[in-house]
This record gives sequence, structure tokens and C-alpha cells, in this order.
Amino acid sequence: MDFEEFKKKVKTTFRLDLNAYKEKQLQRRLDSYLSKLKLRDYGELYNQLTGQRESYEKFLDHLTINVSEFFRDPQRFEELQHKYLPGLFHGRSMVKIWSAACSNGSEPYSIAIILEEMGLSARSRIDATDIDRQVLKKAAEARYNRDGLKNVSKNRLERFFTKQGDFYLLKDSIKKKVVFRYHDLLGDDYQKGYDLIVCRNVTIYFTREAQDGIYKKFNHSLNPGGILFIGGSEMIFNYKDLGYEKLAPCFYKKVK
Ligand SMILES: C[S@@+](CC[C@H](N)C(=O)[O-])C[C@H]1O[C@@H](n2cnc3c(N)ncnc32)[C@H](O)[C@@H]1O
Repeated sequence: MDFEEFKKKVKTTFRLDLNAYKEKQLQRRLDSYLSKLKLRDYGELYNQLTGQRESYEKFLDHLTINVSEFFRDPQRFEELQHKYLPGLFHGRSMVKIWSAACSNGSEPYSIAIILEEMGLSARSRIDATDIDRQVLKKAAEARYNRDGLKNVSKNRLERFFTKQGDFYLLKDSIKKKVVFRYHDLLGDDYQKGYDLIVCRNVTIYFTREAQDGIYKKFNHSLNPGGILFIGGSEMIFNYKDLGYEKLAPCFYKKVK
């Protein structure tokens, strides 16, 4: 089975659109997976994916890069807290937030911490989604090692975490603020009614066409005046065509 046929079959069987991922990166990750599992070709990989329970989840876990950390790009999170969140709560009794491609939960929990500090927890709801069920399990556990906490101040560590051996457990008051669920940005429907969508460090893996499709769907998911918060190395060049105004690097506002 060649690469093209493999992609077609994966789409039919698992509804995963591998064509939307940048081809070279995708092929590199697939090849490293083949050698890790000592499989000869894509045909063997496809048989393995369809033959054994949980092998598709392991495959997805390898394919997707889950690196994340609390307050990734601290300066942007400062801006979110002091410049943009207060405005979003203005005139709204409830603010709905979506962390899309949330990985191990560091991102939505960072936002939950900020909202708690602002005294706005009770007026907000945070949904967090990812395509990788294994990473979603880790997110629900909310147990982190030092590496992902380097941007968490001593004060926040003491207030919101409990140390357990080499790990830090997030306190229940923050944990319970985030609702995790499975969602594929490329294949699933998007819920509507969000005031803030945070989607960082995932669209870099997708083709330009797929990126446009995602940003367009986010636009439809946002309430008027809602904000899209993207990654530090990302940029939406055609933001006007997609219905946004650029507020600052990483921040785009829905205008139509
Ligand atoms: C590098 S992490 C980014 C995590 C977090 N947003 C951050 O910036 O720290 C990328 C995440 O995207 C997820 N992902 C990859 N393809 C996806 C898709 N089609 N739909 C939803 N999530 C996807 C991966 O499982 C991974 O958890």
C-alpha cells in the first residue's frame, strides 16, 4: 500500500484527514513510527491499526506532538489577563472559552488560574478539546512535573498546586473549572457561542488550506466581538478575508 492509499483508507476507517497535515512532517513521523514498531510498510501499519484495540490511539499519540506548558509565552498570557479578558466580561454575565488542541491541559488550566485570580471563575466556562485521547486522560489527572511549570510563579505554585514527590497536583478548585472532551479540528463540527477561542501551536502542522478552514470555523463559533488567541510563532495573514481584525500579535477579534 502506498502513502496515498494509506491516507485514503485512514480517512474512510477513522475519519482522520491526513491530507490536511503538512506532508513532509507527516511522512517523517509516520516513518519513525514504522521503524519504532518494526513494520515494513504502510500496508502493515494499516493492518495493525485496524487489527488491534488501542493501536489507533497509540498511533495518534505518536503522530501528534503534545508538548505544552503552563503560561506558554508568558507575555501573551499577561496581555490576555490584563488587556483582553476584562473587556470580554464587560456587559456579559457569562464568558465561554474554548481551548482547542489543549494537549495535557496546561493551557486551559492556565486560563482557569487567571480567571480565579481575577475573581471571575464563577462567570466563566472553559471547554478544552484534543484529538488525542491519551493526552486528554493526562489532562484530567492534572499532575505535572517541573518542566511544564517553569513559567508558574512561586506564588501561583503555592496557591494552586500541591506538591507530591517530584510532581505537582493542580488543586480541585481549578481542575473542576475545565471540561475536557475529544474533538478533531479537521473533521468534527464546531460548537458555537464562544467569547474566547485559544488555539495555539497546532495549526503549524496543517496545510495553509486546512488552516484557513479552521480559522473560518472559529469565526463562526465566536460571538460578535469574540477573540481568537493563537500561538507565538503563528500568524493569520488573510485575517480580514476570514472576518477578523488584528488586535496585536497572537490576538484577533471577530468583526463579521
Ligand atoms: C503542540 S500541542 C499544543 C498544545 C497547547 N495548545 C499549547 O500551545 O501548549 C498540539 C496538540 O494538537 C493536538 N492535535 C493534533 N491534530 C489535531 C486535530 N486534528 N484536532 C485536534 N487536536 C489536534 C495534539 O494532539 C496536541 O495535543
